[in-house]
Amino acid sequence: MTESHTITVEPLGREVECREDQSILDACLRSGVWLPHSCTHGTCATCKADILDGEVDHGAASSFALMDYERDEGKLLPCTATPRSDVTIEADIDIDESIEIFPVQDYSATVVELDEVARDTVRLVVELDREIGFNAGQYLKFQVPARDGLPTVDRTWSIASPPSERRRLEFHVRRVPGGRGTDGWVFGGLSVGDAVSVSGPYGRFVLKTGDDRHAVLVGGGTGLAPLKSMVRHALEDGAYAGHLTLYQGARTREWLYDVEYFRSLAARFPEQFTYRPCLSEETAEDSGDDAGAFGFGMVTDVIAADHETLGGCSGYLCGPPPMVEAALRTLMGKRLFPRDIHREEFFNESDKESGAVRSPLIKR
Ligand SMILES: Cc1cc2nc3c(=O)[nH]c(=O)nc-3n(C[C@H](O)[C@H](O)[C@H](O)COP(=O)(O)OP(=O)(O)OC[C@H]3O[C@@H](n4cnc5c(N)ncnc54)[C@H](O)[C@@H]3O)c2cc1C
Ligand code: FES
Repeated sequence: MTESHTITVEPLGREVECREDQSILDACLRSGVWLPHSCTHGTCATCKADILDGEVDHGAASSFALMDYERDEGKLLPCTATPRSDVTIEADIDIDESIEIFPVQDYSATVVELDEVARDTVRLVVELDREIGFNAGQYLKFQVPARDGLPTVDRTWSIASPPSERRRLEFHVRRVPGGRGTDGWVFGGLSVGDAVSVSGPYGRFVLKTGDDRHAVLVGGGTGLAPLKSMVRHALEDGAYAGHLTLYQGARTREWLYDVEYFRSLAARFPEQFTYRPCLSEETAEDSGDDAGAFGFGMVTDVIAADHETLGGCSGYLCGPPPMVEAALRTLMGKRLFPRDIHREEFFNESDKESGAVRSPLIKR
């Protein structure tokens, strides 16, 4: 049996048991001890904490997210670090009142829908063996089965359905060429009726439901997924009092999806919801009769043209890291404070090596 050690989390003084093959973050989240985290695979640095006592193996922490000198100074990324003795850590625990804490659990699930909805993009719907609680914007980890001598790996996909739907969960998955979870699994043979193993919920990118400010939501590609959960929770579950404007960015109409769905929501909630699909590689001339239906240009240019100022608003940004960074600059340029901008970058394995997290704007 794998040995376990006691993790003490300061300043809470809470103790949890953690196996030597389990990350410290995983042990904490399963015990209901909240630690700040985002990517859960050693790339974003959100979870960085101090080791006060004990020994850890840093695991797959990216050398950009946890630099050598930080390792020497006694820092760790709890999402990749596993214990080698009893360990005491000190984390910057900013309990956010709007995040309801649901301990992470494992679930068995069945694929009930798998449809191509746009170029290289599928809608995956799974039915869990029992109900799950989560906040709008959070994600699950899927266990990608071992294949061709390669071990099982976890991949993270954001929940696109609202928390009021507790067993049937929707996901949007974009194919990444050469990717284990997408090219090699979801797009490489996964079918309706297949059993899948998932765990969750994870993440701190959640709709701040106590707020009533105008929320500007910006999604690139499948970055739409957590925003769809937030919009549905806000409007259909009546969970948010403020106005919401959703900007959905794609290269061309071939890459856009759920346009009719959001148009019908905008028609149902005209006072509370504005929908702006944006096309970066089409022009008004290409679109002919449809021209009035889209914003043309980079989503950030459309936002800049739509608003003189966004002072007093809140922002929710999600998608590929360069898009999130560009949108962050745009919103800050429109007088939105960084503390009011929430973001989820869809880091993948290649970002661990590229140092995408080193951008001066992507500070945690
Ligand atoms: C919080 C969060 C939420 C997310 N939500 C979604 C979502 O809702 N929808 C969605 O589509 N995506 C989402 N993602 C991205 C998702 O988790 C995966 O990263 C993505 O689906 C690609 O997975 P993959 O297994 O196919 O690719 P990977 O196997 O991770 O490979 C990605 C790329 O990196 C290359 N690569 C693999 N290993 C290495 C290495 N060691 N060094 C250098 N390059 C390497 C591969 O060849 C490939 O090109 C999210 C990511 C995060 C962090
Ligand atoms: S959550 Fe630990 S590095 Fe991203």
